[in-house]
Amino acid sequence: MPVIPIVDRKDQKIIHLIRPEVQALKQYHVPPSRGLIKLDAMENPYSWPAYLRGEWLEEMQNVTLNRYPDPESTELKARLRQTFGIPAGMDLLLGNGSDELIQIINLSLRGRDSKVMVPEPSFSMYRMIAAYVGLPYVGVPLNPDFSLDLPAMLAAIEQHQPSVIYLASPNNPTGNLFADGDIEQILRASRGLVVVDEAYTAFSGSSFMNRLGEFSNLLVMRTLSKMGLAGLRLGYLVGPTNWLCEFDKLRLPYNINTLTQATAEFVLRFEDEFEEQIGQINRDRAWLAESIRRLKGTEVFPSDANFVLFRVGKGQADRIHIALQKKGVLIKNMNGVHELLQDCLRVTVGKPSENVAFLSALTSAL
Ligand SMILES: Cc1ncc(COP(=O)(O)O)c(C=O)c1O
Repeated sequence: MPVIPIVDRKDQKIIHLIRPEVQALKQYHVPPSRGLIKLDAMENPYSWPAYLRGEWLEEMQNVTLNRYPDPESTELKARLRQTFGIPAGMDLLLGNGSDELIQIINLSLRGRDSKVMVPEPSFSMYRMIAAYVGLPYVGVPLNPDFSLDLPAMLAAIEQHQPSVIYLASPNNPTGNLFADGDIEQILRASRGLVVVDEAYTAFSGSSFMNRLGEFSNLLVMRTLSKMGLAGLRLGYLVGPTNWLCEFDKLRLPYNINTLTQATAEFVLRFEDEFEEQIGQINRDRAWLAESIRRLKGTEVFPSDANFVLFRVGKGQADRIHIALQKKGVLIKNMNGVHELLQDCLRVTVGKPSENVAFLSALTSAL
């Protein structure tokens, strides 16, 4: 009798026990960045001023870590309401990053007939999280200028009746805001939920937060990651209580840890510091976009976020991406991710010295 190696038997078990869509997935890849100028992940490049760090450390001395966190994040929610002008009468649900909120929403949807719809290209986790929870996913291509293809979206809504549509505005990786009028028409046409993902709202100033009362199927999702607190992992969802109550049942207890609650509650008192950093990033974005545009053979797409998407010469993106890494600069290669992103690269706005280093590396790599 042939001896079956243990590893083969294990593989058979994986094939039988793990959902096929999970077996087909690839792990979300985070490239190593040690020693590189990191301009790949839309992080705010600035840390806090020394006085703020001092006060924060002082405050952290009183935080108790032997007890579980406040399951309702009561003080933090009050601070978020005050800082971000959450409309009275609207509820608030917190997630371990907005990724977790997307997962909670998708998990709550009824059965395998519930479809997730996203205009594409957009944030890659929308597709991945639909697969995690076993929901069919429908991507509708944007126009070549990355605006919403409204007739195509309306036709796809009519055909697929999605249970949820995710609209990232400003969109990642394209950087543009979608037209308010287009979003309104999608809200009116959809019988399912429409989540307006405002991860980059701090850089655009535009928001659907104050429109929440107008549409019963509108939810607004945000994150603190891009404004400067990526390490805390805190996202928030705003919408009518009847919806958020259902989602809240799927939130794991204590999903927002004590250090995140205490730190976010503390640091959001210093909103002005973040506003100053965001103002600087927006000014530098304009400089960066214009500087890339001046380089021969590049096309720069307008951005309302803290990053810039640009196109290089045909077939050059992969080579340039590697050349930049060799010169110590990590950006994101979007070539091959979607057909509308051919030859495209995405760079996050860094500190002025980092932007200059990137530009000089790009100039010599082109
Ligand atoms: C549009 C969009 N939504 C959500 C997120 C996830 O943010 P978080 O760090 O809160 O999980 C990102 C991150 O890149 C994003 O681009």
